[in-house]
Amino acid sequence: MSDVKNYIESHKTRFIDELIELLKIPSISADSAYKKDVIATAEHIKKALLDAGCDSAEICETKGYPVVYGEKIIDPKLPTVLVYGHYDVQPPDPLNLWDSPPFEPVIKKTELHPDGAIFARGACDDKGQMYMHVKAAEYMIKNDALPCNLKFMIEGEEEVGSDSLEEFLLDHKEKLKNDIILISDTGMMANDVPSITTGLRGLSYVEVEVTGPNRDLHSGIYGGAVPNPINVLAKMIASLHDENNKITIPGFYDKVEELSQEERDLMAEAPFNLEEYKKALDIDDVYGEAGYSTAERYSIRPTLDVNGIWGGYTGEGAKTVIASKAYAKISMRLVPDQDPDEITALFTKHFETIAPKGVKVKVSPHHGGQPYVTPTNTIGYKAAAIAYETTFGKTPIPERTGGSIPIVALFEQVLESKTIFMGFGLDSDAIHSPNEHFGIWNYLKGIETIPYFFKEYTKLFTEQ
Ligand code: BES
Ligand code: MN
Ligand code: MN
Repeated sequence: MSDVKNYIESHKTRFIDELIELLKIPSISADSAYKKDVIATAEHIKKALLDAGCDSAEICETKGYPVVYGEKIIDPKLPTVLVYGHYDVQPPDPLNLWDSPPFEPVIKKTELHPDGAIFARGACDDKGQMYMHVKAAEYMIKNDALPCNLKFMIEGEEEVGSDSLEEFLLDHKEKLKNDIILISDTGMMANDVPSITTGLRGLSYVEVEVTGPNRDLHSGIYGGAVPNPINVLAKMIASLHDENNKITIPGFYDKVEELSQEERDLMAEAPFNLEEYKKALDIDDVYGEAGYSTAERYSIRPTLDVNGIWGGYTGEGAKTVIASKAYAKISMRLVPDQDPDEITALFTKHFETIAPKGVKVKVSPHHGGQPYVTPTNTIGYKAAAIAYETTFGKTPIPERTGGSIPIVALFEQVLESKTIFMGFGLDSDAIHSPNEHFGIWNYLKGIETIPYFFKEYTKLFTEQ
């Protein structure tokens, strides 16, 4: 057995227990009621970095939640890997759909995780995946197996858009200086199909408000004679896609990078089972933009989705009322070379244009982020591929996925660094959903694979 496997074997109970302790802290960045817990999590991680053997670790204040920074510098002449992750989590709602409380982690077996999975909010996104790096660092530092310099930057605002991070990067450019950034905050295809994420979508997120009459009205006395903002909003939203499910906002597709047939053919070679996909979600058909496959629809094509819609009476029983206002939250996932600010402006203009007379509309932008694509012809990608080959016995498949990590494009702009994604979660791990979990096998496999990345990267770096 390899050294790292041996180390994991003798320490795995502690590795699991430590992650469970971390998962007990409800670090919900979106809800200010949890502010103390978010800050306590930062302290917890600072201590974990020092325990793992970092020379120093500190809490760096930002305008929002703090960033935890830690480092182990062995030789300035050697390359530096910066590990990024986030310690904040999504709100656990709706609570009634959880089989066990979100911040009381339990281990249960599932069909895809026969060795057990830890069920808790943040188990996979991203505490579990971030903590793999802390434990991989512990192994490397305590066994004289860290071949290069290591920096950690663990933030607490990813799930709310990393708003303070641009300033943080600009203010700490020298401290964060690195040769490559390594992130485990994505997934892989299956436990026997390793893959490396090579692209993430960008994001433009808006909230819309439609106002009709100046107060809620009796739906009998006024119904039929005044603009009902909920009816109007529903119609406006419906008009944002045409019969081919193309987005109707003028200019929306102008900058979308079209892949060549060759690139699309290559993508189609990646294993994807449509029947299993539908079965896992209990849908009898998929839905999306005409002319594109399901894998293309969720990765290389832009989207527009309503994430929430409300207004009027939603309580028990029937209340006859025409609401004064209706609201929706809308996300647009973007692909190269769409720009979030431009798309938000196009959306706003279009939404105002299609509003019928009789209502007022207001569009408020939330956070956004640029799309990102990692080149595969670099030593960083090669090192990651060799690492997976070593521990999975298979060449990983490059895969562009649909989620967003807004900070990655900023890393490239401000720090001029490329990012490598080594994700070990599965799509079925239910991130952002009730019953989020992370396979114990995946957690330990991540800890095992990461040190090989460091080894191969340092080797390729010094050879070049
Ligand atoms: N870790 C996810 C992003 C992700 C998940 C990428 C799986 C690829 C595969 C991240 O924490 C996340 O949820 N990002 C948000 C964006 C953010 C601005 C709130 C997202 O994608 O919705
Ligand atoms: Mn995440
Ligand atoms: Mn997330």
